[in-house]
Amino acid sequence: MKILVISSSPNHDGLTAACTDAAVAGLIQAGGTVEEVCLNDLKVGMCKACDNGWGTCLEEHECQELDDFQALHAQVRQADGLVVVTPVYWGEMSESAKAFTDRLRRCEANRDGGSALEGKPVLCGAAAGGSGGGMITCLGSMERWVQHMHGRVFDLIPVNRWSREYKLETIRAAGRAMGEKRRD
Ligand SMILES: Cc1cc2nc3c(=O)[nH]c(=O)nc-3n(C[C@H](O)[C@H](O)[C@H](O)COP(=O)(O)O)c2cc1C
Repeated sequence: MKILVISSSPNHDGLTAACTDAAVAGLIQAGGTVEEVCLNDLKVGMCKACDNGWGTCLEEHECQELDDFQALHAQVRQADGLVVVTPVYWGEMSESAKAFTDRLRRCEANRDGGSALEGKPVLCGAAAGGSGGGMITCLGSMERWVQHMHGRVFDLIPVNRWSREYKLETIRAAGRAMGEKRRD
């Protein structure tokens, strides 16, 4: 299994990074191949809703806004599964996660014959380091995104400051389970 692990925090030493490291450790334990990407290190701008609402994304399934999105889109197509970890900002995904997931959804949600995530397992993590609130609304939008992408929700894991210790263990176990499982 080749799994693409996408994180989306500007903080390389925070809760999101710890969750991402835990998922990677589990995947590696399972013998999987891991590709790691932090969206905040890339240039992936927001969707411009080109033309009258849809650009080339609808018919050609490619985004016409050229930046680091195209290479990442190819990595998603080549992966057997995806891990997406975001910090919780105002009960939602981070801006970098939103920009990437919005553009990928536009390219893939309406593709006949299988999207880039068709049937592939997706593990989502939401790291709330402040009040600890907003994890569920964040994961709710991530779940909808996976469904729009025709992926399979492998798990949705909320983590806050108080649950950190045992949830990191849960994420590691989820990564391992995901890496061990063949597509079904
Ligand atoms: C703009 C912004 C909004 C935030 N909103 C929430 C929130 O709704 N709930 C929460 O628990 N923490 C919130 N936080 C705190 C982050 O979730 C916390 O800093 C988290 O640890 C970020 O992940 P990191 O450790 O990877 O930076 C917010 C932080 C920022 C910068």
